[in-house]
Amino acid sequence: MTATIDYTERIPNNVDLASDRRLQRALEAWQPRFLQWWQDMGPALPTRDVYLRTAVSVGHEGWAHFGHVPLPDYRWGIFLAERDSDRVAAFGAHKGEPVWQAVPGEHRADLQRLIVVQGDTEPASVEQQRHLGSTAPSLYDLRNLFQVNVEEGRHLWAMVYLLHAHFARAGREEAEALLERSSGSQDAPRILGAFNEPTPDWLSFFMFTYFTDRDGKYQLGTLRESAFDPLSRTCEFMLKEEAHHMFVGTTGIDRVVRRTAQLMVENDAEDIREWGGIPLDMVQRYLNFHYSVSLDLFGSEMSTNVANYYTAGLKGRWREEQRGDDHILADAVSTVEVVADDQIVEVEAPALVALNQDLRDEYVADCRNGLNRWNRILEEAGIDIRLALPHHGFNRRVGAFAGHHISPSGKVIGAEEWERSAPGWLPTEEDRAYVASLMQPVLEPGRIASWIAPPTKGINGQPFEYEYVHLA
Ligand SMILES: [Fe+2]
Ligand SMILES: [Fe+2]
Repeated sequence: MTATIDYTERIPNNVDLASDRRLQRALEAWQPRFLQWWQDMGPALPTRDVYLRTAVSVGHEGWAHFGHVPLPDYRWGIFLAERDSDRVAAFGAHKGEPVWQAVPGEHRADLQRLIVVQGDTEPASVEQQRHLGSTAPSLYDLRNLFQVNVEEGRHLWAMVYLLHAHFARAGREEAEALLERSSGSQDAPRILGAFNEPTPDWLSFFMFTYFTDRDGKYQLGTLRESAFDPLSRTCEFMLKEEAHHMFVGTTGIDRVVRRTAQLMVENDAEDIREWGGIPLDMVQRYLNFHYSVSLDLFGSEMSTNVANYYTAGLKGRWREEQRGDDHILADAVSTVEVVADDQIVEVEAPALVALNQDLRDEYVADCRNGLNRWNRILEEAGIDIRLALPHHGFNRRVGAFAGHHISPSGKVIGAEEWERSAPGWLPTEEDRAYVASLMQPVLEPGRIASWIAPPTKGINGQPFEYEYVHLA
């Protein structure tokens, strides 16, 4: 007899994996490839173990289980939020009907595509962050990086589970392809642009977890509304983990801004490079870049695909049930922006076709909260300079603003003015080289790099000095 892995043991799950031999075999075949991918493309810094949160069930206690774990032994589990047997579709043509436990034939291709596009982002971010460990500003930050990485790995498992469980052979092939594409590759890049951008330094990492993981939150929020119940329940649980990723981004930028403010005040200077800090104008340029590439992830302002997804019940709006309309939107009208004659103007469009913009607007409002936090830190330090979100048309590659030059204040400008001004708006080679020069690892417990303030508290009640990671 060949030894078989006990998957209920190896892969914590609440989907009764043990009872489905076919599915179990499919995942058995996929798991070694995942582990190979993790070894090849996951965190490059060798470690003995890391103080991680592991989800072992979806209950109140179960999803936040802390302990030191060697990274490759992390238990990448499969969890769906509890099933609500009375759940009905909240929107679209099937509104009020019981949600689907199996994939309806007519929506097979679209659902598979939505799952693949979401799934593709999960390993992509691990790949983008692969080399950050060797320049971590503290053990606390190193631990947070690895926590984000293992959870993105778990999100990949979540999507692969859906592909294997509900899309037969085509799903298994897509699950393979998720490990074959890679971030930034010439031949087989990741599907979405922002996930092919490098994350070369920790300022980029914090901006990524603030702006790009937040896009993830909003995308998952629309899939949580799906009438395909297993997808909805999967995304519901993923959103819990996603909150930590955004915490890493929010507090990471908080701490950069706090340290910058401190150095500015101590030295009565704006350019604090000689004291090893990151000047605010540089923070602003990084912010401009990551915000604008993250906005591209929302797709075109007008999209008939997204209208069809909505009407079919596949993908809803952010907080669908809190919207005070008919949730069908057949006759509803909304406005979208277009660039005409060097002006940004609003035109009417069917609300269904404008759903990407609806989601983007929710995201933008959420991003403003971060700006308010960081500006409060500056204000409390007695500094007059403020950070700002650039206009949503700034530096766009996708949608109504692509192909136009829009200034951070929202003015349509010519190519020449853009070329002249861009070095003040987007990270320059010099900025990137300077930030790279700061990326010296600080890996002794309790110590921290010059360019960032320590956190106000540690993880799971542990002090900042705690040995969150044992290096190899
Ligand atoms: Fe994720
Ligand atoms: Fe994430």
